[in-house]
Amino acid sequence: MMTGKVSKVAEASVLVTGAAGFIGAAVAEALMARGQSVIGIDNLNDYYAVSLKRARLDGLATRHGNLFQFRELDFADMSALTAALGSFTFETIVHLGAQAGVRYSLENPQAYVASNLAGHVNMLEVARARQVAHMVYASSSSVYGGNAKLPFAVEDRADHPVSLYAATKKADELMSETYAHLFRLPLTGLRFFTVYGPWGRPDMAMWKFAERILSDRPIDVYNQGEMSRDFTYIDDIVGGVLACLDCPPADDGAQKAGGSVKPHALYNIGNNKSEHLLRLIEVLEDACGRKARRNLLPMQPGDVTATYADITALTRDTGYMPSTPIETGVPRFVDWFRSYTGV
Ligand SMILES: NC(=O)c1ccc[n+]([C@@H]2O[C@H](COP(=O)([O-])OP(=O)(O)OC[C@H]3O[C@@H](n4cnc5c(N)ncnc54)[C@H](O)[C@@H]3O)[C@@H](O)[C@H]2O)c1
Repeated sequence: MMTGKVSKVAEASVLVTGAAGFIGAAVAEALMARGQSVIGIDNLNDYYAVSLKRARLDGLATRHGNLFQFRELDFADMSALTAALGSFTFETIVHLGAQAGVRYSLENPQAYVASNLAGHVNMLEVARARQVAHMVYASSSSVYGGNAKLPFAVEDRADHPVSLYAATKKADELMSETYAHLFRLPLTGLRFFTVYGPWGRPDMAMWKFAERILSDRPIDVYNQGEMSRDFTYIDDIVGGVLACLDCPPADDGAQKAGGSVKPHALYNIGNNKSEHLLRLIEVLEDACGRKARRNLLPMQPGDVTATYADITALTRDTGYMPSTPIETGVPRFVDWFRSYTGV
């Protein structure tokens, strides 16, 4: 049963960072579909095609009119952030904006420092200044590094990251813990596991594989295909993010998921099924109606061989129950990909 506090949170305006991004646009869509107004911010950087980010924003504006307000800005710039948000009121924040991608963090570490470290502190400062009822923020399964114990559980140690991206996400969790302690801010960190689906990201394997299979070009398969990932469909992710947003961790001294006794919870948000990469390729081949030509390559620096999410904590606390196997989600992605790209 919903408490008064929860229903108030579920009605109010939400600030969504990274609103032009894959997960941010989908979360903004779902918030507005249930009647909440959204203030979206994004700097529309060119890490991948800006046209895709603009198309996501156009869709949100077209479908939701005045419920959606958007400001193009860099949240690593505190004075720009404060000025842009000055006229808005919001009760909660979903902080999904970040420099994503493991491999790019070897090429451009500064982008991760600016968006994921300085930017995260700035968003904590906004949450503190506005005394928001709850901020949900994005962490990543990459914080588990090369942990051998599968599935990964939030109680497991996660202090040996193998990429700077992972290190910045772990740092976000640590800085959040400090803010939950000092300022009693209700915070929830979500460790996302390989999200895919319509309006997805061109830098991720799912997109690259579909693009190449459909145009009869070879796909790059790292670690000779000896990898597995807990692929999570976007609709399941969105359901989990909203369920978390509606359940701010209480400041009651009780231990939260992830071990904090402050109002700070940490959850895995995955599909709870680790799929072999070669199985994913088969499902993609079926959806594309063509066989893939495979270019087998060694492991890439910064990458991990396996991810697998233990979602017990999230299911227990919010009822989260992912329901989309890759056999359903991949064809949906390929259908969308063909209509969007015309390939
Ligand atoms: N997609 C996944 O599989 C996955 C897995 C683990 C973690 N995550 C995390 O989830 C979040 C959302 O990921 P996504 O897949 O939607 O990525 P995305 O790149 O599509 O979205 C992130 C958005 O943030 C924006 N952004 C980056 N730096 C910014 C800044 N300084 N100021 C304003 N906007 C900025 C980008 O322009 C982009 O639109 C990220 O924090 C990411 O690290 C995603």
